[in-house]
Amino acid sequence: MKALILSGGTGTRLRPFTYSIPKQLVPVANKPVLLHCLENVRDMGVTQVGVIVGSQEDQIRAVVGDGSALGLDITYIPQHLPLGLAHCVLIARDFLGDDDFVMYLGDNMLVGGVTEAAKVFRTQRPDAGVLVTEVTDPRQFGVAELDSEGRVTAVVEKPLEPRSNLALIGVYFFTPAIHDAVARLRPSARGELEITEAIQGLVDRNHRVTAEQFTGYWKDTGNVDDLLDCNRVLLDTLHSDGDRGGVDTESLVLGEVVIEPGARIIGSRVEGPVVVGAGSTIRNSHIGPYTAVGRHCELSGAGISDSIILDGASIRDVLDIQGSLIGRWADVHVGDSHPRHRLLVGDHSQIALPA
Ligand code: TTP
Repeated sequence: MKALILSGGTGTRLRPFTYSIPKQLVPVANKPVLLHCLENVRDMGVTQVGVIVGSQEDQIRAVVGDGSALGLDITYIPQHLPLGLAHCVLIARDFLGDDDFVMYLGDNMLVGGVTEAAKVFRTQRPDAGVLVTEVTDPRQFGVAELDSEGRVTAVVEKPLEPRSNLALIGVYFFTPAIHDAVARLRPSARGELEITEAIQGLVDRNHRVTAEQFTGYWKDTGNVDDLLDCNRVLLDTLHSDGDRGGVDTESLVLGEVVIEPGARIIGSRVEGPVVVGAGSTIRNSHIGPYTAVGRHCELSGAGISDSIILDGASIRDVLDIQGSLIGRWADVHVGDSHPRHRLLVGDHSQIALPA
């Protein structure tokens, strides 16, 4: 079996970050979402991986390389425009050949992995296998309708009147039967080749499409709230290795706190779960709980919880920051000579000040 990881797209819901960083590289508990995906794929016993990349290909290559560090053999497949999930299958045709494959959305987090689902697919080998999970509001998802034996009878994208509460999640198992179904597609109303329509095409032609229920934690990290939720869930699984090097005697470190090499905690209170990236300095600050500080960040006189801080960012003398995503090399500070708020805010940024 091969894998096809979708790591292109526009990421409009995560602007302004996605202007400068592909959303699959935004870190959750200090590791890019895409690396979490690749590790899950490796755990399925798959080594040949095609990665669909868009205009930010260079950044993805810089992080993932040829995959050898992860024990994977990676082929990059450029997509000139994000023309849909099924378009990714279309352009990966040469790479996929006539092999079965798992298609994995590179912004989806599945905690606990999907090895069991891969085993079921390999053993039963239906024409296609989807993963589903129960959701409270199916109208926001692609929804699968099943018969009593777990066979898919219909897949409906964002149904107004859902007949099932089982949402499709971003991992699909396909045999080469999918290629004919994709070849028959026409662009949808939003101009994309829809994978749900291809799966419906298989069902319509009496192919066997089955659904496996995923009961672990799953999130599409496409927006800030879901990203922070993922960060909390992953940080909750954190185990500090007990290394308190870099923490001075004036500091108090409580709970599960991972301090990466070269990070320093000076005169601060750090309340886990927290991870502090390599080379970062936390001075006279109160960090956590549920905060991931990237590498080479500088926090001084800062108070922050339930947040993700990307590499190189700095926060000086600003307290009570919560539920925030702070981009690479961003600088948040109290103005030296500005008596009022001075904001240099990029396109689609969001600033929420207390009422
Ligand atoms: P989406 O979440 O639909 O990605 P998007 O970039 O369109 O996001 P937004 O709605 O915020 O604009 O796609 C799921 C995953 O698939 C994500 O990792 C991006 C990737 N993808 C591609 O690689 N190519 C594509 O043509 C599309 C539509 C998505």
